[in-house]
Amino acid sequence: MATVFLNGNYLPADEAKVSVNDRGFLLADGVYEVTPAYRGRLFRLERHLARLRRGLAALRIERAVDDLPAMHERLLAENGLADAEMAIVYLQITRGVAPRTHQFPAGPVEPTVYAFAKAFQRPDDERWGRGFSARTVPDQRWGRVDIKSIALLPNVLAQQAAVEAGADVALLVRDGIAIEGAHANVFGVFDGVVCTHPASHQILHGISREYVLELAREAGIGVEERPIPLDEMRRADEIFFTGTTTEVYPIVRLDEAPVGKGVVGPVARRLREAFIAGTLA
Ligand code: PDD
Repeated sequence: MATVFLNGNYLPADEAKVSVNDRGFLLADGVYEVTPAYRGRLFRLERHLARLRRGLAALRIERAVDDLPAMHERLLAENGLADAEMAIVYLQITRGVAPRTHQFPAGPVEPTVYAFAKAFQRPDDERWGRGFSARTVPDQRWGRVDIKSIALLPNVLAQQAAVEAGADVALLVRDGIAIEGAHANVFGVFDGVVCTHPASHQILHGISREYVLELAREAGIGVEERPIPLDEMRRADEIFFTGTTTEVYPIVRLDEAPVGKGVVGPVARRLREAFIAGTLA
């Protein structure tokens, strides 16, 4: 039985209970984070927590929350993941329990803080080396997707549409621009230059996206942050997604058409290698 964290306590998952009046349950009034740990070491935790703090500030959930780094460490340990090759810690904070109203509760309310840890496995080299497929789906999300809100219905429906169409992942498109995936950022490679959407309100500012941009710069690969029209993306030499549970994820088919030569390209290979090396350094 997994041990989870709920409001200051570590307890078996089936004993962790949240009120039906939790504003997360009723209104999706909260934010979340997913942080990876490699061989028990949390990777870029401070950046994940900084993004979480920005989200909490945007939602005006103001109460300072417990010692989150220690909580992450302890959850890994309690679940036997202190030495695991890869694991993730999921953390969710909602505004708390209060009678349902659209405006904030009248009095002060304790936020609900919930977290769990679990082992995570990347695709093996053979599977990764065959690449993955993406399906374009209209981006029907709100205008502040830089906030890592727990309201993920458009992401869920987009990913489901992609899977039902036989693809591995959704590529969200808005006003003719390839924005990002349903749970990952997207990059195109054009003549050796790595391009991705700017960190605006229209994408989640992925910690892996930022990491891959750093790795590309360090490797002397050209980098551009600009909106990429879908028509141009269809002509990319390579496409790959990035994310905590995605790492570097090469797309070799987009809407049934091959991407570039239809095989995993050299830039994705190089960046994946650097990505994994960096997590173990
Ligand atoms: N998803 N874009 C979206 C819409 C995401 O949901 C995510 C992460 C990313 C990548 O962000 P990062 O590199 O910081 O993981 C981009 C998480 C993992 C999830 O929902 O499970």
